[in-house]
Amino acid sequence: MRGRDSTEPPASSDRRAAPISGGDVRPALVRDLFSAIQMMRLRGKEDVRTRGRVSALRQTLDQAARDLGRVRIVRSGPYVFVSGGRIRPLPEVRMAVQTLLADMERLGIGGFEWDTPAEANGIVAFLEAYPRLDDLLCVHRTRLHFEGGGDADRSPAVPIELLPGVRILPVLSGPASGGPTDADYRTEARRTFFRALAGARHLVRHFARQHVPELRKSRALVHGMIDSLVNEEYSLLGLAAIQNFDQYTFQHSVHVCVLSMVVGQGLGLPRRDLADLGVAALFHDIGKVGVPKGVLLKPGRLSSRDWSVMRSHPLAGARELILFGGASELAIKVMLVGAEHHLRFDGSGYPALGREWNQGLFARIVSAADCFDAMTASRVYVARPFTPDSVVRYMIENAGRLFDPDLLRLFVGKVGLFPVGSLVRLESGELALVIEPPRTSGEVVRPRVRLLSRRLDRWELGGDRTLAGGPGADPAYRIQAGCHPGDHGVDVDSILAEVYLEAG
Ligand SMILES: [Fe+2]
Ligand SMILES: [Fe+2]
Repeated sequence: MRGRDSTEPPASSDRRAAPISGGDVRPALVRDLFSAIQMMRLRGKEDVRTRGRVSALRQTLDQAARDLGRVRIVRSGPYVFVSGGRIRPLPEVRMAVQTLLADMERLGIGGFEWDTPAEANGIVAFLEAYPRLDDLLCVHRTRLHFEGGGDADRSPAVPIELLPGVRILPVLSGPASGGPTDADYRTEARRTFFRALAGARHLVRHFARQHVPELRKSRALVHGMIDSLVNEEYSLLGLAAIQNFDQYTFQHSVHVCVLSMVVGQGLGLPRRDLADLGVAALFHDIGKVGVPKGVLLKPGRLSSRDWSVMRSHPLAGARELILFGGASELAIKVMLVGAEHHLRFDGSGYPALGREWNQGLFARIVSAADCFDAMTASRVYVARPFTPDSVVRYMIENAGRLFDPDLLRLFVGKVGLFPVGSLVRLESGELALVIEPPRTSGEVVRPRVRLLSRRLDRWELGGDRTLAGGPGADPAYRIQAGCHPGDHGVDVDSILAEVYLEAG
């Protein structure tokens, strides 16, 4: 029996050991969380009974991660859901469900999401802070209001990480009758992504014809993406790693938009700023509509004349936005990102604005996302393209010179050292393709992979595996090194398309 010790209270006051109907880990998680919160409040963290509850909760969280994937407890209407499954108010969990529901309502939050494998210290910190969450949230909102200039809304708009290993989720806006499942979130993320792609195509074409940047329309597009980012950041990052299904400019702008907003969300930007950042990222290359196709799509090396035309796109875009974008705050932000996205952190890059010119925060975010996507996209038109992991290495080597080192750390924490689309050799000797970024920034070498096995002259796809860390992890399932798909005849995009476009 998990975490049980001889000094625990008698069975009548300890419902933790009671069997849960159906062998489902979901109600067990609600029960163990509630029980641990109560014991921490009553006895404090040094008490052996509290330690027992912490250990039980930790094991249940890890079990839930194995059974269900992402571990979330959320409220929707009068119900509590654990990772997409509604908790029925059976007698053994009724009190826990009602109390958690009331707590979440009082705090104005949608729920909690845990990183797994769960760390005992993180659980203890969360349980200790639980009775003070109201104060912590209040401090967080006030800080956002003053520093970020954002809304001091009662409810968070994006997940916030007040404590290590657990995120506080916003209130779900969906219908109260059924909790969304991971598959629902994935489907929604895919829909949003393709809507954004179609939207970006329209925006670029419309701009090329009419010279009118439809900033308001694109803001609506980006808001849809923020909702998906909140629920399914991993799917959006996966979709943004696929390079071969649309014309470069549209998908590039959407990829840069996704990557920038993931970083912006990691920075804790309020929703309004996140939306502005997304719009600016969508429009960052709008000046390219004035670059002749012959230069834009030229295979091989560009001549020095071609380069000077290419290098005109940041200022050309900014100029058009000044002329036709209006003088709104958003238009100015978009214009600045357009002008500054090829500047480098040390003041180099183009256009030459002088070393004393400070590249703005949005442009620093967009330039990192832009460089990453442009270099990884080379796989569709270069014989031996850069691999995503080699691009990340290049960026790390140039932190502080080309890229803002703090933002880059955040970026790598999100995409991992082996981003989606990296081919890796595991210690087991198997080849695997990275299909999902790591779940936490502390696990940059532990993404989710799809195993590949050689069958005669072709590769067959095996199962998926999260390269977990921690003491119980299988050492054979660690990354030994990155490989080049060209050396092994692996078609990265077709595998990613199968994972993200065909699976339910
Ligand atoms: Fe550009
Ligand atoms: Fe770009």
